[in-house]
Amino acid sequence: MIFHMCARSNLLLRKEHLAVWRAWRPWKLQHSSGVCASSGPGPQDRSEDLSSVSPEKPLHTPVMLKEVLHFLDIQPGQVVLDMTFGGGGHSKAILNTVPGVTIVALDRDPTAVSLAQQLAEKHHARVKPVLGRFSELEALLSDLNIKPGGIDGVLLDAGCSSMQMDQAERGFSLSKDGPLDMRMDGERYPDMPCAADVVNTLDQQALASILAAYGEERHARKIASAIVEARRVSLITRTQQLASVVAGSFPTAVVHARKDRLHRPAHVATKTFQALRVLVNDELNELHAGLRAARDALRPGGRLCVVTFHSLEDRLVKRFLQGDDLSNLDQYHFSPRKQSARREKLVDEIRIRNPESVSWLPLRRKVIVPDKDDVQENPRGRSAKLRAAVKR
Ligand SMILES: C[S@@+](CC[C@H](N)C(=O)[O-])C[C@H]1O[C@@H](n2cnc3c(N)ncnc32)[C@H](O)[C@@H]1O
Repeated sequence: MIFHMCARSNLLLRKEHLAVWRAWRPWKLQHSSGVCASSGPGPQDRSEDLSSVSPEKPLHTPVMLKEVLHFLDIQPGQVVLDMTFGGGGHSKAILNTVPGVTIVALDRDPTAVSLAQQLAEKHHARVKPVLGRFSELEALLSDLNIKPGGIDGVLLDAGCSSMQMDQAERGFSLSKDGPLDMRMDGERYPDMPCAADVVNTLDQQALASILAAYGEERHARKIASAIVEARRVSLITRTQQLASVVAGSFPTAVVHARKDRLHRPAHVATKTFQALRVLVNDELNELHAGLRAARDALRPGGRLCVVTFHSLEDRLVKRFLQGDDLSNLDQYHFSPRKQSARREKLVDEIRIRNPESVSWLPLRRKVIVPDKDDVQENPRGRSAKLRAAVKR
């Protein structure tokens, strides 16, 4: 069943991505510059943002820091790949606790990489900032002359950073009004559809599939219908506009009834925002590409820590560490349930017969979650899940 879910979402992601592009191109021609190209921050705006940040400011509180340091178990002089530098919280803690360590600091967001550059200036050759996506990692490491197997520890702290969430103009936030953008690297790829492009162009059924698959939203069809109704009146271009369209599709009593894990009121559009962000940034395929790149980069005996924030991601990580070759999923037709079940059985049989086919030894069998104090201190990390393993 779990395998089926991962497989379905992987397949859907590709299908819906194609649908977004197909619908978006002619629409963009009609609307000259597209919603986000005209309202999102340009390169000049972003450099102004940076003048107000410094690597010393806590821009993002690192999640499950002590657990990450414990499971990575980095030794002096080792080379660590931080695949998600963000505000640099984890990297800084590693630099401060382990002597002589070198950090390769990757991020797809140019703002994060500028912070890594500031940190590199302070730590000279010990920090190597790299701008790019997980799916580009192999080539990027080769540019740095790092051969496959040349890395001792990898951290992948998925999702987006507080820096991204807190800047209204990035369009990730439900609580702050901004252009409905959500692209982590929109300025590198200005032709990439943003969240506004998705909600204004996809048909109702495709929208509902996205909300159900990537937001695990039970009311996906109702919300998709409200979006399509609303955009007939005017295009949805702002985060608050989308939040109120979603809220408007629920009775008032329900709007305030949803609770998060800390039992605080959760906005009914939270899952819609998650689904759009996952789609716009191709997050599941990127995560899968990142896990494969991490496996190739690590030496045997090297350690991998992956922190995820929603169940779709965690399921993918879990299955990957169990040795499922998720890249083969596209060969199968998932709609007929039987075929998927047969595939799942086959994978389990292979695993039992040939445990060597699994590249990982888990450091903990069960998923690790933040302790209560951590959650109180940093509520944004409340849904974090950590999996740690050693490469065989
Ligand atoms: C949760 S934050 C990391 C926070 C960081 N560990 C810290 O302590 O500050 C996730 C970061 O990963 C980056 N990211 C997400 N997907 C990525 C991808 N496919 N390739 C490269 N970077 C990615 C985001 O831009 C974001 O800065």
